[in-house]
Amino acid sequence: MSAQPRTLREFEEAARARLDPVHYDYVAGGAGDEITARANEDAFARIGLLPRVLRGAGPPDPAITLLGRPAALPVLVAPTAFHRLADPEGERATARAAAAAGTVMIVSMASTVAVEEVAAAAPGARLWFQLYLQPDAAFTDRIVRRAEAAGCEALVVTADSPAHGTRERDLRNGFHDLPAHLCCENLRDPAEGGRVRPIVMSPELSWADLDRLRRATGLPVVLKGVTHPGDARLAVEHGVAAIMASNHGGRQLDTVPAAVELLPDVVAATGGAVPVLLDGGVRRGTDVLKALALGAAAVAVGRPVIWGLAAAGERGVSRVLALLRAEFEHALALCGCASPADLGPDLVRRPCR
Ligand code: FNR
Repeated sequence: MSAQPRTLREFEEAARARLDPVHYDYVAGGAGDEITARANEDAFARIGLLPRVLRGAGPPDPAITLLGRPAALPVLVAPTAFHRLADPEGERATARAAAAAGTVMIVSMASTVAVEEVAAAAPGARLWFQLYLQPDAAFTDRIVRRAEAAGCEALVVTADSPAHGTRERDLRNGFHDLPAHLCCENLRDPAEGGRVRPIVMSPELSWADLDRLRRATGLPVVLKGVTHPGDARLAVEHGVAAIMASNHGGRQLDTVPAAVELLPDVVAATGGAVPVLLDGGVRRGTDVLKALALGAAAVAVGRPVIWGLAAAGERGVSRVLALLRAEFEHALALCGCASPADLGPDLVRRPCR
């Protein structure tokens, strides 16, 4: 594509033209028949907006407060692995773009740049660190100490992965490992002479492990991968600072309903005790608005950030975030709202369930 992409979907096309097709499939793909991956996007299209008129709302300001600190827009960078597959600067470029946009980047445990280097590359960036709790708790704690020392503000525990999702595109393409020059730098274990350890997805983990982590860190813990209202209630009881309603972009269990369809029940189950973030399928400013109207405190985007990175490096990620910001501001104005605080469920019409 020669012209500058004007939408997130055009960024995907631009990225597809540049990426190794095996890596494109790794990012785009979902588990099984990819029903959930598709549903995440389709569900937003089925939610209608009911704008209010003549409210004298004034100019839109998308800023929010998240975990006690300001963010310039309610769109975070979701944790995604392997950014150096898309751009040589990888997570450094993503962090600089997130910092310039005034938003949070959630650094993946499986990032191809060490968390210390991500932080150093983007002074002033708001970073949260995503963690898969490892059965070797001492190893988990060593990674947590690194994230803390690097200045990360929160730990995001991804709980939806007691096993790897079955992504059939990857199986078909034989994509198992990173190219030899890349590795998951956060998994380099000094206690084992700098060996890069594999991420273990363990079905043994329980709420007790989350409690143990909370005792082992002073950082707020965000629980990612919650879809069941019962788990949202338990998460509040176990003292999480926030919940991310997420089906992992449809990459774990196929046929889980769309994230935005699950959101209202997850929000209701928390009783307003903690903020609920949403990820999965957000591709437009109107999607951001719909999620916030349905109770999300903010959203996060996964694939679109990698599309931006693959299309144009840091500049591409900046442009993806700027597009979402501009579209969200426009949607706020057209709905008669000045800020995220003005959004409520009266602005959306959901299909009958
Ligand atoms: C992910 N996701 C993810 N989640 C996580 O907790 N740790 C991780 O390392 C990764 N890695 C990862 C890689 C790739 C290529 C993708 C596409 C996704 C899931 C991610 O955080 C988020 O839940 C989804 O990407 C949200 O859906 P969208 O925005 O991609 O539709």
